[in-house]
Amino acid sequence: MDINIEAIVKQVLTEMNGGQAIGNASAAPSSQAGKAIPKTARVAMLTALEHYEVKEFPIPEVGDDDILVKVEGCGVCGTDAHEFKRDPFGLIPVALGHEGTGEIVKMGKNVKVDSAGKPVSVGDKIVTCMIFKDDADITMFDLNKKNVGGADVYGLLPDDDVHLNGWFSDYILIRGALGSTFFNVSELDLDSRILIEPCAVLVHAVERAKTTGILKFNSRVVVQGCGPIGLICIAVLKTMGIQNIVAVDGEQQRLDFAKKMGASDSVNFMQHKGIEALAGAVQDAFGGKLADFAFQCTGSPAAHSNIYKFIRNGGGLCELGFFINGGDATINPHFDICSKEITTVGSWVYTLRDYATTFDFLKSAKQIGLPMSDLITHRFPLEKINEAHVTNLNKEGLKIAIINE
Ligand SMILES: NC(=O)c1ccc[n+]([C@@H]2O[C@H](COP(=O)([O-])OP(=O)(O)OC[C@H]3O[C@@H](n4cnc5c(N)ncnc54)[C@H](O)[C@@H]3O)[C@@H](O)[C@H]2O)c1
Ligand SMILES: [Zn+2]
Repeated sequence: MDINIEAIVKQVLTEMNGGQAIGNASAAPSSQAGKAIPKTARVAMLTALEHYEVKEFPIPEVGDDDILVKVEGCGVCGTDAHEFKRDPFGLIPVALGHEGTGEIVKMGKNVKVDSAGKPVSVGDKIVTCMIFKDDADITMFDLNKKNVGGADVYGLLPDDDVHLNGWFSDYILIRGALGSTFFNVSELDLDSRILIEPCAVLVHAVERAKTTGILKFNSRVVVQGCGPIGLICIAVLKTMGIQNIVAVDGEQQRLDFAKKMGASDSVNFMQHKGIEALAGAVQDAFGGKLADFAFQCTGSPAAHSNIYKFIRNGGGLCELGFFINGGDATINPHFDICSKEITTVGSWVYTLRDYATTFDFLKSAKQIGLPMSDLITHRFPLEKINEAHVTNLNKEGLKIAIINE
C-alpha cells in the first residue's frame, strides 16, 4: 500500500494548529509588503518624570539573529504609569512600551521559528513576552526555558546605542543575542494582540482557581471589581462555558459593561449599606445561593475583607487584585476561613504557558462575540503619548493604546 507519510504529518500538524495551514498563518494582511524600510525611526523616549520626547534614531543593521518589526500599536500598562510618574526602575531615559505588536519587515537568516516553535517569516505579526518570575516551583511549561527572566524585557531595557528597545516607537529591533521571547500571532487582529498581556493575567488567575478543584462548568462565580482586570476575568470565564457570573462594583457604567461581557447579573455596592446587605444582594443575584467561587479584582483591602461573605461553605477564592502593596485587610479567621472551609489561591502575573494559551482565549472570545475591542477605550498616535499617559493616570477609560498609522 502506498502511504503518503508527508501528507499525513502535514494534516496532523495542521489540525493541531487549529486548522491553519502550517507556515501560512497570516490572517491579518501585511500592511508593509512592498514598502521600503526608512533610514530612521521615531522612538518615544521618557526623558524626565511625566515627560516623553519623540526622538528620531537611525534604524540599525539587522543581525543574523535579529528581527526588525514595524510597530502597529502598544497598550499603556500600569507599569508604564509607575515609570512615567516615579521611575521606580531608575531607567530614564528609556524607550517604554511592552504590550506592543507589529509586523516583521526584516529578519536575520538564523531566525526560523518563534519561542513556541512556530515558523516565522517577513509579514508575520508578533508580540514579545514580559515575565517577572522564572521560579521552577511556579513554572508549568517548559517554554519557560526561554523565559526572559525579568531582565531583557522590551519596553523596560536600559537605553543603548540601538535605542529601538520599546514598543512606543515606529520600529523595534528584537535581538537574538538577548534570548528574546517572541510569538507569531498573525492569526489575531490588532486589538486582540494589544490585549494579550492583561488577558494573560486572567488566564493565569483562572488556571490558579482551577487548582482548587472548586471552579466547575456550572459554578456560581462572583467577580468583584470591574476594571479591565475584572472585565477580562468575566470574559475568560465565559469562554470556559461558565454562565452564572455576578459582577460587583460601585460604578454603574462598568457594571453595564460587565453584563455585555457576559455577567448574568450585577450588584452595585454603592446601593447597599453594610456588608450583610451587600452579601444579601449577591445571594439574591444568584437566586438565593452564595457563590461557589470568587475572584477578587480590586486593589481595595476592604473589598478583600468583604468577599468571604459572598462565598458558600466549602467554596473558593482567587485573590489577584494586589499588584502593589495596598495595605492590610481585616478578616475573621474563624468565620471567614476555618468554619467555612474556604480554599484560597493567590495569583500573580502569568507563565509563558499562560501567554500562549491566551492567544487561543482571544480567538474563542471573538468567536462567541465578546466585545473585547471595546476594552480599548482610547487610541492615541505616538506623538500624543504624554496625553495618553495622563488619560491613563486619570482613569478616564479602560485600556489606553498607542496606535501607529
Ligand atoms: N495579579 C496580577 O498579576 C495583577 C495584574 C494586573 C493588575 N492587577 C491588579 O488588579 C487590580 C484591578 O486592576 P484594574 O486595572 O482592573 O483596576 P481598576 O482600578 O481599573 O479597577 C478596579 C475596580 O474595582 C472597583 N472597586 C473598588 N473598590 C471596590 C469594592 N470595595 N467593591 C467592589 N468593587 C470595587 C472600582 O470601582 C474599579 O472599577 C489592581 O489593583 C491591579 O493592581 C493584578
Ligand atoms: Zn503590562
